[in-house]
Amino acid sequence: MSSLGLSSLAFPAFSPPAEKPVVISTWDSGMEVNAEAWKILSTNGTALDAVEAGARYIETLNDCCVGLKGYPDRDGIVTLDACIMDQHSNCGAVAGLEKIKHAISVARKVMQSTPHVLLVGAGAQQFAVENGFPLESGELSEDAKRAYATWLKSSRYEPVINIENKKQNGPFAPSFFEDGALNHDTMGLIALDSSNNLSGGVTTSGMAFKLHGRVGDSPVIGAGLFVDNEVGAATSSGLGEEVIRICGTHLVVEFMRQGNSPEMACKKAIQRIVSRDRQKAKTLQVGFLAINKKGQVGAYAIQEGFVYSIKNGTQNEVVKAKFLI
Ligand code: GLY
Repeated sequence: MSSLGLSSLAFPAFSPPAEKPVVISTWDSGMEVNAEAWKILSTNGTALDAVEAGARYIETLNDCCVGLKGYPDRDGIVTLDACIMDQHSNCGAVAGLEKIKHAISVARKVMQSTPHVLLVGAGAQQFAVENGFPLESGELSEDAKRAYATWLKSSRYEPVINIENKKQNGPFAPSFFEDGALNHDTMGLIALDSSNNLSGGVTTSGMAFKLHGRVGDSPVIGAGLFVDNEVGAATSSGLGEEVIRICGTHLVVEFMRQGNSPEMACKKAIQRIVSRDRQKAKTLQVGFLAINKKGQVGAYAIQEGFVYSIKNGTQNEVVKAKFLI
């Protein structure tokens, strides 16, 4: 008779079927982003090219939280944060980048053409221009102008949680969003390609009406994104300060290394945030999204409302993440 306990045999951990290649991204806006990435993945392209293409796509849209059409900081300036990481642990990032449309591609250029990981502010812009990225006007989009004008009426400075699918009258409803408007946060995406390599990218205009110079988790490797080609990868969305405090995506990947499923790894990282201060956690949102080397995917958030998009050979859908509070 086996020395193993019956329970370990009778109830094996549930492992959803995994398919490769696959791309996952934060929020339901990830459906369009995944479609761009899929053009590359489905023709045996690399995960790195796929995540860059997906991020570039959303950087051109009229989007509250990504790209130059995103909402500005409290001085009325749009500043972009982005990072990218490949299967060799190469990584590049930019923070506080102004007037450059494709922050993700500048991040990739930092990764591939410099010995550095992160360029910020004026230096990041100078680097971008020197490398052929056009300098844009910096004029706010019509949506951003409206939202900024509304915000200026109170100029109430507080972290704003971007939660898609929460209506204006919810507990996280900032006064400057139009009634009933849907809002979302950072675009983080991860791909596993047909050569079994992982890469990830993140792009955002960050927290709306933030202090000029504030940088969130998105361009911070190990916070907004982490890729370990032996284990898996993770990305995050939500209030960046809380993610940075626990090195969130690095933590998720380390939990997967210990044998946790992607969902359990994300849940444990969320628990780490909540256990610091449960009362405070009730007022904020963070969501983690992860994939392991088998292509299994999972997510977890503090609050209801975090969703992710997945695309592989058979799936193309938005999935609701479980939540803790
Ligand atoms: N997660 C995006 C930010 O905090 O800026």
